[in-house]
Amino acid sequence: MKKEISNCIRLGQEADLEKIYEIEKEDVDAWSYEILRQDLLENEFSTYFVYEEEGQILGFISTMNICGEIQINNISVRSDFRNKKIGTRLLKEGINYYKDQDIIGYTLEVRMDNEPAINLYKKTGFEIAGTRKNYYKNNKDAIIMWRLA
Ligand SMILES: CC(C)(COP(=O)(O)OP(=O)(O)OC[C@H]1O[C@@H](n2cnc3c(N)ncnc32)[C@H](O)[C@@H]1OP(=O)(O)O)[C@@H](O)C(=O)NCCC(=O)NCCS
Repeated sequence: MKKEISNCIRLGQEADLEKIYEIEKEDVDAWSYEILRQDLLENEFSTYFVYEEEGQILGFISTMNICGEIQINNISVRSDFRNKKIGTRLLKEGINYYKDQDIIGYTLEVRMDNEPAINLYKKTGFEIAGTRKNYYKNNKDAIIMWRLA
């Protein structure tokens, strides 16, 4: 059964795996199919949300609750549907999902040159907290961001 969170956004489930991977693989730092599959289906700490319109999945976000620190592991919107606030809605719902739980806050890593994502996170209340050197392929650094609960 599909578990709706809000209009167009619902929890991701096994049947969404292929569609989520189609979107994920557009990203330069995409997870492999197998890692994505394990995270969606076998990681009890992970929660996926998908944005679905007229039966089409246009974006997703994945989160992981690690001892009250909510890690935003991944967010991606289909390239032909970007700049329509789908990313903003997914991120806000992903955050909202934990609001009644005893959590410390939300954290993520983002490639230093990923301006669209950094802007999205800043607009949603995240602040830069540090960097991780050579975190991504091609020795790209990551920015660590936090939004406290
Ligand atoms: C990052 C991403 C999820 C944003 O999704 P989106 O639906 O296009 O974003 P929104 O329409 O909600 O935009 C929200 C804000 O993000 C910023 N933004 C979005 N696209 C941008 C761009 N191309 N350049 C600069 N800022 C951008 C803007 O601040 C925007 O707010 P504004 O429209 O009021 O200016 C999307 O670009 C994406 O899927 N990128 C590839 C995957 C990725 O890099 N994920 C992040 C991994 S850490």
